[in-house]
Amino acid sequence: MPLRRLVVSTALMASVVFLTFAALVISGRLPVWPAVVACLVVVGLHALLLRAFLDGLTRIRTGVEEILVEPERAVPVVRSSSPAVNDLWLAIMRLTRAWRHRIRGLEIELAGSNAVLAALPDPLILVNERREVVRQNAAAQALFGDHVLRRDLAVALRQPTLLAAVDAVVAGGGGRLVEFELTSPVERHMTARIDPLPARTEDGVILLVSLHDLTSAKRAEQMRADFVANASHELRTPLSTLVGFIETLQGPASDDEEARVKFLAIMQQQASRMARLIEDLLSLSRIEMNEHQPPTTPIAVVAVLRHVGQTLEMKAAARGMPIEYDIADEQAQVVADADELAQLFQNLIDNAIKYARPDTAITIGVGPSRRFKDGLAIKVRDRGEGIPRTHLPRLTERFYRVDTARSREMGGTGLGLAIVKHIISRHRGLLEVDSEMGEGTTFTVHLRGSMPGAAALPPPAPKSDENRVIG
Ligand SMILES: Nc1ncnc2c1ncn2[C@@H]1O[C@H](COP(=O)(O)OP(=O)(O)OP(=O)(O)O)[C@@H](O)[C@H]1O
Ligand SMILES: [Mg+2]
Repeated sequence: MPLRRLVVSTALMASVVFLTFAALVISGRLPVWPAVVACLVVVGLHALLLRAFLDGLTRIRTGVEEILVEPERAVPVVRSSSPAVNDLWLAIMRLTRAWRHRIRGLEIELAGSNAVLAALPDPLILVNERREVVRQNAAAQALFGDHVLRRDLAVALRQPTLLAAVDAVVAGGGGRLVEFELTSPVERHMTARIDPLPARTEDGVILLVSLHDLTSAKRAEQMRADFVANASHELRTPLSTLVGFIETLQGPASDDEEARVKFLAIMQQQASRMARLIEDLLSLSRIEMNEHQPPTTPIAVVAVLRHVGQTLEMKAAARGMPIEYDIADEQAQVVADADELAQLFQNLIDNAIKYARPDTAITIGVGPSRRFKDGLAIKVRDRGEGIPRTHLPRLTERFYRVDTARSREMGGTGLGLAIVKHIISRHRGLLEVDSEMGEGTTFTVHLRGSMPGAAALPPPAPKSDENRVIG
């Protein structure tokens, strides 16, 4: 405690007593010496009392400063011989505790709000009245980067309709919804909701821009529309053939026995094509419906493969194509649905028979998977013309064919590989296709040895640029 403050305070406190004694001495009512002694006693007592009080206040000030510098530090103990100082310190301690409690509450609330904001999957931007980005959540940061902060919203979103809507809300208008297209880094279809905040925040935010990506919804919509168009087209072709022949048989060829036999054979072929198409569509939707539930029973895969091979042997033999086996382990097991597995390999072997060169062998191979630990890689290899690289990524799309005319001529619906893809996806497996022009094509199906947590191995480096993982 500075001595000057004690002297000044004591002098001030004792000044009234000094003046009183001075008046008494001047008026002759009190001799000088007793007055001087009385003054010294008064000064001494005042100094003693004030020292304890001022000392207590100084320690309180130091304590408060320490708390301000380090709010979480333990409150220092201040004890004084002055009861007033002790009371004051107790009050300050209570205030500090209440203040800390409130701050902790606010911190928890803030952390909660920040966590919610960060976890929101949709990008969210908080904008001030100058239309600058004040804050953004993690999704927006991933989309626009940090450089948009404290800059005009137009830096992040150069969308005239969106900016006009934001300006209208800044000017006091109500919330609005706009749709727009983002072209970079990838094309996206987005909606933006612009909502004013009920009150301006401390950091100046007055409105929220929340973005929602509609790309997948739009794509799904488009795919649904394409699917309906494709399916109706596929059905319409055989149907119009049927109607044409019925009309011919009812009219000009009604008495032509030879034409009747010939037309009925074509009609039967077209009707069974329609039936196959409907069967494949139903099968596809059944598999899709169960896709979220992977199978759980282990089955001996080689027995299934040999059985499918046998059922297709005649068809293969008709084209002079032997079906050969290259099996590392006859007892190999995978967790799978036996019927779906049979359907999967039926499609792959059927394709090999249909699209490979006649008089070449088809090989069915079973060995360890390079993709799943304890998994199996099952290969169907043909020696056909191969599939041009540009077609590989789209091969498993519904109704996609490399050579439409040839596929139709062979009675194909273009759904076989889409079915294959969905069966593999239900089994949480992988499909690879390796094709070399003039050499042939190998479809490899990787299946897991156990479900559901079978570990995936890191993808191996492609052997050549012809190799593609397509599902
Ligand atoms: N092994 C293969 N060699 C060459 N091309 C193939 C082979 N497998 C499939 N393709 C090509 O991929 C296309 C799609 O095959 P997918 O099995 O989905 O349909 P599809 O065979 O035409 O009809 P479906 O299987 O329904 O009878 C085929 O039309 C064919 O052009
Ligand atoms: Mg097929």
